[in-house]
Amino acid sequence: MALPNKPKGELKAVKDPAFEEREVDVLIIGGGMAACGAAFEVKKWLAPNQTCLIVDKAAMERSGAVAQGLSAINTYIGENSTEDYVKMVRNDLMGIVREDLIFDLGCHVDDSVNLFEEWGLPIWKKSAEGKTLDGKKGLAMGTLKKGAKPIRTGKWQIMINGESYKRIVAEAAKKAIGDTNILERVFIVELALDKNRPDHIAGAMGFSVRENKVFLIKCKTALIACGGAVNIYQPRSVGEGKGRAWYPVWNSGSTYYLGMRVGAELSMMENRFTPARFKDGYGPVGAWYLLFKAKGLNGLGENYVASEAAKKELQRFAPYGTAAVTPTCLRNHLMLFEMKEGRGPIIMDTVSALAELGKTMDKKELKHLESEAWEDFLDMTCGQANLWCATNTEPEKKNSEIMPTEPYLLGSHSGCCGFWVSGPDYDWVPAEFKIKADNGKVYNRMTTVKGLFTAGDGVGCSGHKFSSGSHAEGRIAVKQMARYAKDHADFKPEVAMSKQDIINFVYKPVHTYLANCAYTTADDINPNYLKPNGMMYRLMKATHEYGAGTATYYETTSKNLEIVMELLQWMREDCEKLAAGDLHELMRSWEILHRIWTVESHLRHIQFRKETRYPGFYYQSDYPGQDDKNWFCFVNSKFDPKAKKWDIFKRDYIKIIPD
Ligand code: FAD
Ligand code: ADX
Repeated sequence: MALPNKPKGELKAVKDPAFEEREVDVLIIGGGMAACGAAFEVKKWLAPNQTCLIVDKAAMERSGAVAQGLSAINTYIGENSTEDYVKMVRNDLMGIVREDLIFDLGCHVDDSVNLFEEWGLPIWKKSAEGKTLDGKKGLAMGTLKKGAKPIRTGKWQIMINGESYKRIVAEAAKKAIGDTNILERVFIVELALDKNRPDHIAGAMGFSVRENKVFLIKCKTALIACGGAVNIYQPRSVGEGKGRAWYPVWNSGSTYYLGMRVGAELSMMENRFTPARFKDGYGPVGAWYLLFKAKGLNGLGENYVASEAAKKELQRFAPYGTAAVTPTCLRNHLMLFEMKEGRGPIIMDTVSALAELGKTMDKKELKHLESEAWEDFLDMTCGQANLWCATNTEPEKKNSEIMPTEPYLLGSHSGCCGFWVSGPDYDWVPAEFKIKADNGKVYNRMTTVKGLFTAGDGVGCSGHKFSSGSHAEGRIAVKQMARYAKDHADFKPEVAMSKQDIINFVYKPVHTYLANCAYTTADDINPNYLKPNGMMYRLMKATHEYGAGTATYYETTSKNLEIVMELLQWMREDCEKLAAGDLHELMRSWEILHRIWTVESHLRHIQFRKETRYPGFYYQSDYPGQDDKNWFCFVNSKFDPKAKKWDIFKRDYIKIIPD
């Protein structure tokens, strides 16, 4: 259970924290959409004598990317075919995806959406006359499961009244797994491999952010579902707005760090998501483009996407550039193209869009439409609605600027970085995509480390799962984990580190602080340590300038990459001197380390892939085009925890669903 909120101020860290050791069969790390799916599902598949635990760094009710709520569910297959879903994802991610994982997900995602509705999430419906019914009115049409028609924005997306989306999903997850099997406000810092079988997961170490306590949780199998990574690049927001980013600031790359440090193979870490968003408030654009049919204008007021110059530019990236729906990265590329040609900024024409829709509406309907425009933001990005108020923006009267943001790493939205995992054990899935455990059996969504699974943002090569797909994937993975735990009933995980070793490791920044803090009067300045806040600025500056951040219009070169890799190495070395005076700083210390490793793997992959696969997300000036002959393949990497060395290599792309 979550400990109560803190009294005023941060809790000072102490030298000798309490220590708690637990052992479970199935451990779920994270409390977001994927983890909630896993928590909801797990007990159905466990034997009565088997145990499970979910550990979230925050409170599940409002943790992860859906914390603020959402206004749409972006993956609902419904009347579409699963094959078409695979083709859409493949096109959007420039061809190189794992079609087995995407198809498998497409077969299960709607079941999660049906559950959300059953648990009380209001889904917009179409009336018999084709009108929109939102909120409670939608209920009159019955449920999706019973055949009611949702309001589609695009082919795959449906509208919801989703401010409380995460609360609804978390409530069901908590009820299913049971109060005694939940640890909230516990930050997992590192995984442990088994003492006797170093290719097998044995547990996780972490600490409470509400009391001075370190945890060791041993397990037969673990799921890492800690979301993606934000604040690995300098955000566009500055000063008092710095805490604002598009991606939730509390996901710090732990998924990738935890897995890579125990040797799990990563895939497509070069892929990133650089979303185009309403400038400064980071409000999403999907509903505006798809539901309200708004157009983006360049600084001259032209619908630049329809221009001859844009068409010509897109032809360079055929067949993706010339596809019916332009991939997300290329939509960004066109924005950048306009801006670089001196035709910026890019403006979302909300005024014309609402006027056009209003033509067929009476006054009451028009008022409702305007409130929907606000609700889109109030449901999931309320800061954008605040910004509209602060800047006297009524979207029916005044247009808003949009802008590509800083880059993020994730595997469930319009990006596909993550781990190389096993596909399902069906005969149509190529052997190359199946990962076998030591008993010769295939476990869907298992990483290359035995007993270690992932879902949502953690699974590589298969984006466009979004909230619903991440939930479904958590359910898929945990079912396999329960099977794994049963098949390995006699496995007794053992961790080589002693209790004191673990405390010294997890609390190292605290010990460094306590040993040196009396040396200076200014707490943040000390010759013997550095604070995580300073390290955060250092990381952001390096990636911003050399790693294809916004500073260079997302461009980098071989030389820049060489420089940033060296800077990252020094940062990792200097992190040995991180200091934390309170529990919040201790979390910040671990977060920054997780970020550094995560972004390093990203840049290592970019460096290896000698082409520009995702124009609009990043550019390698030395290798500007796409080189299908040499690079139409997955790029995978592995950190060897013993030798402390990286290996980076290609794996073949295999087409399963024909065009
Ligand atoms: P998350 O849901 O982000 O969960 C990560 C969890 O890990 C959190 O509980 C976090 O507290 C926990 N955690 C992190 N680090 C640690 C650690 N070290 N130890 C323990 N716990 C940790 N999808 C839609 O369908 N529709 C939309 O409109 C939509 N809009 C979006 C808008 C934004 C801004 C973002 C970022 C995403 C949006 N998505 C949308 C996508 C959707 O939110 C994600 O696909 C989904 O949440 C991913 O699930 P996840 O479980 O992998 O990660
Ligand atoms: S959100 O997750 O914050 O809502 P976003 O607004 O980018 O993300 O997109 C929502 C959905 O709309 C995603 O499925 C995305 O692929 C799609 N989308 C956004 N803009 C466009 C566009 N211009 N054309 C086609 N699809 C789009």
